[in-house]
Amino acid sequence: MAEQSAAPAAPKKVRTRHFQNAKRDGIKITGLTCYDALTAKVFDDAGIDFMLVGDSAGNTVFGYETTLPVTVDELIPLTRAVASATKRAFVIADMPFGSYEAGADQALHTAFRFMKETGAHAVKLEGGVRSAEQIRRVVSAGIPVMAHIGFTPQSEHGLGGHVIQGRGDQLEQLLADAHAVEDAGAFAVVLEMVPAEAARRVTAELSIPTISVGAGPHADGQLLVWTDWAGMTTGRIPKFVKQYANLAAILTDAVTEFRADVASGVYPGPENSYDD
Ligand code: KIV
Repeated sequence: MAEQSAAPAAPKKVRTRHFQNAKRDGIKITGLTCYDALTAKVFDDAGIDFMLVGDSAGNTVFGYETTLPVTVDELIPLTRAVASATKRAFVIADMPFGSYEAGADQALHTAFRFMKETGAHAVKLEGGVRSAEQIRRVVSAGIPVMAHIGFTPQSEHGLGGHVIQGRGDQLEQLLADAHAVEDAGAFAVVLEMVPAEAARRVTAELSIPTISVGAGPHADGQLLVWTDWAGMTTGRIPKFVKQYANLAAILTDAVTEFRADVASGVYPGPENSYDD
């Protein structure tokens, strides 16, 4: 939803209708995950369209090996921090593993908690056909839902690891999932780790915008985990991530310099000390 000469003006506050308008007008949507207030303010001021307080916080904030252990109680304060620091971008709360799969009542209960306790504008949950009932119930309560199909990290054990979804015969299932979440009322759908051609097909068939996480260039928008995107993640990062900064290297240099300055007495200097 970047402002372009022939395009409508960028909205003052991003709403679900702007996702729909962006798809209609062929304007790409850009999102990043976010987990704290300082980072949220930077991203918001820079014009990001949406921020997802992802259950990837399980890895990035809490240090778990997968996203499975992270809880609603752990994500709520992070989501509140992001929402409180954001003026323009659309903030989406990710519903963690175990907080919606039991049925529509459980999904609604969790969605209510995120909406009442955090200031988020929408929720996201994983699953296509299998989550349609939950999406329908949450949407019918007036809460926008972003769906998430293709590779769904909460099911990584069931899917046999981080495996690309939608190849070959799996395309039919991907399309069925995409149509199920659109029919259930989702305002947008994340396609994670899906071949570019399959994402092109889904994007062409749906009237709601598709958001790619490793699904190639044909989706209506792109979303990345910010710590991968900014080079804070020091381990292996997926092929689909382009690193736009190397924050880990910048911080490493800064720590090294700080230690040397303290050791040599350069820091603190008179300019960093208080007079009597
Ligand atoms: O939690 C997350 O960061 C996500 C995105 C990768 C889609 O679900």
